[in-house]
Amino acid sequence: MRSLSLPPAEVRIFPDAAFLSRAVADEFHRCANAAIDHAGFFSVALSGGSTPKAVYSLLAADENSGRARLRWHLIHVFFGDERSVPPEHAESNFRMANEALLAGVPIPASNVHRVHSELEPDAAAGHYEAEIRRILACSPDEVPRFDLILLGLGGDGHTASLFPESSALNERKALVCSTWVEKLGTHRITFSFPVLNAAREILFIAAGGEKAGMLRNILGGDPSGINYPAQGVRLTSGQLLWFVDEEAASEL
Ligand code: 6PG
Repeated sequence: MRSLSLPPAEVRIFPDAAFLSRAVADEFHRCANAAIDHAGFFSVALSGGSTPKAVYSLLAADENSGRARLRWHLIHVFFGDERSVPPEHAESNFRMANEALLAGVPIPASNVHRVHSELEPDAAAGHYEAEIRRILACSPDEVPRFDLILLGLGGDGHTASLFPESSALNERKALVCSTWVEKLGTHRITFSFPVLNAAREILFIAAGGEKAGMLRNILGGDPSGINYPAQGVRLTSGQLLWFVDEEAASEL
């Protein structure tokens, strides 16, 4: 593993996707144990997409092999975004994480907070925001601080479901919003920048040569510029980490 400091981010580069997934799973363990030891509670928002699926499978395998058990009864799992489909749909981020991880570990069902994406998008966003505020004990004028938020990087520079030119990019009050994504011809529900930037730790995961160009744009460009949504993730006082493989880092 090698590191680069590309303010405001710290970048850790792993030989391949397998090493990368192992490192993300180990960071998840570290964050969870530190939060639980400190506050008796760990709040984490999972990313969708394909990259993190191997991480989720490793976390379930760690638990079942006894390699690294977590205090799941003290862990609350959320989702940084969701597609506007029912939870059993093939496109559902909840379904992916449930099959790869949540159904295979002893986390109480009441600790899994999926987006009720079977509702109309705006209703789903409002319902989710209310659940976040309830579980994290946040008043209406507070922004909750997640202990860890996992994020991916899309080829167009999107993260969560904050896509270029989408209305969600400008949201500064709501924690969760619904947004029409023209290029996909669908609605998405997504965390807004305020809740991302309040996190104690954001961990971006990117793998594969197809992400190399966009990673260079995001990390190699003018640190004050925001040309792509992922550059809008600028933590107020948390740690911004990028865990990537050598292929994705090949243009840094
Ligand atoms: C989603 C994710 C999205 C994803 C990126 C990267 O719902 O799809 O939240 O932001 O992280 O599109 O996806 P891959 O990991 O599949 O490349």
